[in-house]
Amino acid sequence: MDFALTKEQEMVRKTARDFAANELEPIAADIDESAEFPTETVRKLGELGFMGMTVPKEWGGAGLDDVSYVIAIEEISKVCASHGITLSVNNSLVCWPLMAFGTDAQKEKYLKPLASGQKLGCFGLTEPNAGTDAASQATVAEKQGDKYVINGNKIFITNGEKADVAIIFAMTDKSKGTRGISAFIIEKEFPGFSIGTVEKKLGIRGSCTAELVFEDMVVPEQNLLGGEGKGFKVAMATLDGGRIGVAAQALGIAEAAFEASVKYAKEREQFGKPISKFQAIQWFLSDMATEIEAARMLVYRAAFDKWQKRPYTVSAAMAKYLASDVAMKTTRNAIQVHGGYGFTKDYPVERFYRDAKITEIYEGTTEVQKMVISGNLLK
Ligand code: CAA
Repeated sequence: MDFALTKEQEMVRKTARDFAANELEPIAADIDESAEFPTETVRKLGELGFMGMTVPKEWGGAGLDDVSYVIAIEEISKVCASHGITLSVNNSLVCWPLMAFGTDAQKEKYLKPLASGQKLGCFGLTEPNAGTDAASQATVAEKQGDKYVINGNKIFITNGEKADVAIIFAMTDKSKGTRGISAFIIEKEFPGFSIGTVEKKLGIRGSCTAELVFEDMVVPEQNLLGGEGKGFKVAMATLDGGRIGVAAQALGIAEAAFEASVKYAKEREQFGKPISKFQAIQWFLSDMATEIEAARMLVYRAAFDKWQKRPYTVSAAMAKYLASDVAMKTTRNAIQVHGGYGFTKDYPVERFYRDAKITEIYEGTTEVQKMVISGNLLK
């Protein structure tokens, strides 16, 4: 067993870390405050090859492995979790299903511009009454000749307002349950498509989260992804990979909170000495370091499984469950180490705390990860 990263993976870490320090650090607090989507830096990440990292080069991607991908999400999220999820959604939830289920014509038309960062994508599964119960799709797609006419709406869609392309899910045959759901590739210019509510959020405020509305939206039949009735499997398989991306985001946030705590503990003096000399603080730091290392092992393991084409549904669910839990605990205790200062915007740990929370919710709540893990244990 070898825990060493390859030269290429180390290079990806350095590239992501340098980019984050030079381009994201100066704007991370500002876009959190203003909730402004960082169009320019997302474009630059596309130029770096970070928008379609595991997509083969012939389809516009960087042709990297899945461990390199999680390292990039970890490093970017360590500085700005909003950029982390913007990237993760485009890579895991849009490029990956196009690569896995798309026809060559779909890859040519949609994957190439998405993987090369010329276009941005989003993934529309969630509805007002289909959150954890993702199969309860109320959006309906009716076949009319060589087209589908789609009616319904999707909520809480990351990148929603800014995306050029969306992969969405709709019922094509309600009587068949999960086997009556189909996936479609849609463009923002399609007639009948519009953006509804844009959410105001607790965290990841520099990312965009919006409602997608379909009113008699006309979609050509060649934009069906993976075949009629295959949509639920497309969604579930896609989310397996997406969960590894969110786990890497959570890992990055936890690392940021830990490093800020070490720095502060060495600088801050009380009772005539740095607070790092007190056992209470040392124990916080020891717990953080140990739990982060455990989370990192699971996140890299899940990415390794995916890279090696081994089953990764369970390792991805475990990675997301643990990493998001560690992110919450580490950011909460990071504020505790910082005391009153940690509760203010003078230090970044309050942002890390707010950003961490969503990692326990999106792409399947912690409870969904436990359902997936136990479902596989008990089958
Ligand atoms: N891969 C492939 N197929 C899968 C699968 C997987 N990982 N998991 C399930 N399936 C298949 C099953 O084999 C089954 O197929 P058959 O009909 O052929 O037997 C079918 O899907 C139905 O499976 P279940 O009966 O297990 O489905 P369920 O309705 O009980 O759902 C669930 C199970 C785990 C709760 C699922 O609904 C789920 O994951 N819910 C959470 C949804 C979620 O993660 N939403 C996040 C929204 S996206 C987001 O957050 C994006 C963003 O913007 C950041």
